[in-house]
Amino acid sequence: MSLEETTAGYPRTITLSSGTSIELRMITGADRNAILEFARSLPEEDLLFLRVDLTEPQNVDEWIRRIESGQSAAIAAYEGERLVGYAKLHRETARWTRRLGELRVNVSPHLRGKGLGRILTSHIFDIGQAMGLRKLTAHMIADQHGAQAAFRRLGFVPEALLADYVEDGNGKPRDLVIMSHDIDGLTEFVGTPLRA
Ligand SMILES: CC(C)(COP(=O)(O)OP(=O)(O)OC[C@H]1O[C@@H](n2cnc3c(N)ncnc32)[C@H](O)[C@@H]1OP(=O)(O)O)[C@@H](O)C(=O)NCCC(=O)NCCS
Repeated sequence: MSLEETTAGYPRTITLSSGTSIELRMITGADRNAILEFARSLPEEDLLFLRVDLTEPQNVDEWIRRIESGQSAAIAAYEGERLVGYAKLHRETARWTRRLGELRVNVSPHLRGKGLGRILTSHIFDIGQAMGLRKLTAHMIADQHGAQAAFRRLGFVPEALLADYVEDGNGKPRDLVIMSHDIDGLTEFVGTPLRA
């Protein structure tokens, strides 16, 4: 399916196993304030590990600019009018890495462990496939053990550990873990496949 056909399937409503109704929408400039509000509601611990500080309006504007230019694509999850999570794919443009996408998933703490991360990831995989991507990577701080466990369950495998590679929100050097998942599901994994 083409990217246009795939994204035309949104917005759409899904129901979590808890019964919570969630609307999935492709992110556009209209979501700017909801993203800011979401980031500002995150606990200190999460803000420390955000790759880009989305509590700053100019960073959200740059984030949206990349989506509007086609370099990134993102799906937002709304509970009513409140943004409660997103999955974002950033496409590399260099020739070597043009089939690679970097995935970020972020779910509001009150909804974690209820299947929303899995749903968002599954939907962004379809977008990645429509973008012609072959492999997705997820970058996280080595101390984010819960996130690594969740990504393993989603079928991602650890690829690399880079010592003191990144700096957290407090300026402290941190080890970076890179995990990956082949879009076509060729990677061996230990968790439940995204499309069981
Ligand atoms: C990582 C994150 C996106 C997962 O989202 P979520 O909605 O809680 O995930 P789900 O409920 O869909 O769970 C997906 C799978 O991971 C497992 N899982 C989720 N959190 C886990 C944890 N802390 N420890 C172990 N396993 C976990 C679930 O059991 C599930 O596996 P299963 O379906 O095979 O039972 C969420 O915890 C988050 O937003 N964390 C902060 C941001 C972050 O670190 N993002 C990662 C970097 S991109």
